[in-house]
Amino acid sequence: MSITILGIESSCDDTSAALLRDGEVLSNCVANQEAHRIYGGVVPEVASRAHQINIIPVVDLAIKKAGIDKREISAIAFTRGPGLIGSLIVGVSFAKSYALSLGIPLIEVNHMQAHVLAHFAEAPRPGFPFLCLTVSGGHTQIVLVRSHLDMEVIGQTLDDAAGEAFDKTGKLLGLDYPAGPIIDQLARNGKAVFDFPEPQIPGLDFSFSGLKTSILYFLQKSRKENPAFIEENRADICASVQSRIVSILINKISQAAEETGIREIAIAGGVSANSELRATLEKTGKEKGWNTYIPKFEYCTDNAAMIAVTGYYKYLKGEFVGQEVEPVARWKV
Ligand code: KG4
Ligand code: ZN
Repeated sequence: MSITILGIESSCDDTSAALLRDGEVLSNCVANQEAHRIYGGVVPEVASRAHQINIIPVVDLAIKKAGIDKREISAIAFTRGPGLIGSLIVGVSFAKSYALSLGIPLIEVNHMQAHVLAHFAEAPRPGFPFLCLTVSGGHTQIVLVRSHLDMEVIGQTLDDAAGEAFDKTGKLLGLDYPAGPIIDQLARNGKAVFDFPEPQIPGLDFSFSGLKTSILYFLQKSRKENPAFIEENRADICASVQSRIVSILINKISQAAEETGIREIAIAGGVSANSELRATLEKTGKEKGWNTYIPKFEYCTDNAAMIAVTGYYKYLKGEFVGQEVEPVARWKV
């Protein structure tokens, strides 16, 4: 008998539902919340309300697109955390009541583990053990992945996440939220002519808060001399900041590869959609003899396919939870 998993994701500002049959993605639907743009960041209260509006239509659409009947679903996998508690509550409550009404089991999923397992949504799938650089709006981690459900964080940010570095830079430049994709776009027409320092952090950890401060001071100083500095140099500033963020990430993953001897290298999370990071990883991989794994765009940012994939491996191991399960804002991989 085939195994069909419904995945539900609602940890931040995207509401997503996906269907997976025997490990193959049948549908993956995402409702983005435009409402946060005007605030320059995700407003938890607004996000939670939008999830309430979006969740039923998104699940219905995912089932329709998959071309299945809801009675064919074997289990529901949902993001239990980490994330915004008000957002998580909507997905968790929906998953619990839907599972109860269908009489099927529930599977809790760690959102950060799911970003790593997004690599198993489609071929080529990495071989074990592999290293995954997970870079999102809330996290920056190097994960040593021994098997689907056995992973260990061997390096992480001490302050801001890589996505935050992009988003906070965007705010300083007067760009919309989330700024990562906008900076990526603008940087294509610019050159990395401004030099921002690379932080010297021991081991495999990261730090991005110093970069943010140096960008702030640089912009303040430059605007004093020329009030139109940002407008006149936007593309070059974007290219310079992006190139520094990418070099920080690539240098640490290279160090991790050297220290562990692992040559299977993957990237995951929203920032892995960045074109320079993708190109630089591929180029570095060729030079160093790695096999590199870069997810399709739809599996980089938050999506429910990765939740369903993680749910599938937990289903195979019989890892279910009861109706008493509650969301958690913090949860280690
Ligand atoms: O994984 P994700 O969708 O949500 C979280 O779990 O945080 O990541 C969102 C982050 C945001 O900070 C966004 O600016 C960044 O990913 N991002 C990008 C790009 N696309 C999304 N950053 C740089 N370049 C991109 N193309
Ligand atoms: Zn995420």
